[in-house]
Amino acid sequence: MKHVLILSASPRKNGNSDILCRQFMRGAQDAGHRTELISLYDKSTEFCRACYACFTTGRCVLRDDMEEILDKMQQADVIVVATPTYFYSMNGKLKTVIDRFLPRWQNLGGHDVYLIITGHDRKEGLKLVEEELNTIFTGLGNQVKGCIWGEEVWQKGEVENTKAMDEAYQAGSHI
Ligand SMILES: Cc1cc2nc3c(=O)[nH]c(=O)nc-3n(C[C@H](O)[C@H](O)[C@H](O)COP(=O)(O)O)c2cc1C
Repeated sequence: MKHVLILSASPRKNGNSDILCRQFMRGAQDAGHRTELISLYDKSTEFCRACYACFTTGRCVLRDDMEEILDKMQQADVIVVATPTYFYSMNGKLKTVIDRFLPRWQNLGGHDVYLIITGHDRKEGLKLVEEELNTIFTGLGNQVKGCIWGEEVWQKGEVENTKAMDEAYQAGSHI
């Protein structure tokens, strides 16, 4: 049994990324794994201040929900990172959370990582998001095992009629 942590960056509950996260989660649960989904918008995560105090103390000066997120990441076997595409990039909430990896960037490797990327564009137009997340998580020492593309979806729920649903379930059940 593996412990799967899903970090979902969209502000929209029941939006396309959220739906794909839940499909992945269902697949993993049906295969007997333990899952936890964190909606990053429910968490308070301030911007990194680049004070570098963490380089000396190992701890961030900001007291918000980041420590809890980092603890959970370190405890997980599998990490799923889901984001909508905002102007060809990951969304701002996810970037803010990633910048706050700084105090523990040397301790966030060794996980299998799956990406879930949604957008109204076709996959070719969402590629930069995959490239940046792949580079970041590989750089931290993880293995990026797959990416589920929720392409050509805009309104909430549109992804439900696409092949990404099955892909997310299958990915979750084969971790
Ligand atoms: C601020 C903003 C910027 C966006 N920029 C893009 C974009 O560059 N490319 C794209 O394909 N979709 C873009 N979209 C559309 C979203 O990626 C799309 O609606 C996605 O399904 C939202 O995911 P969610 O349903 O999980 O919230 C943008 C949406 C917003 C709100």
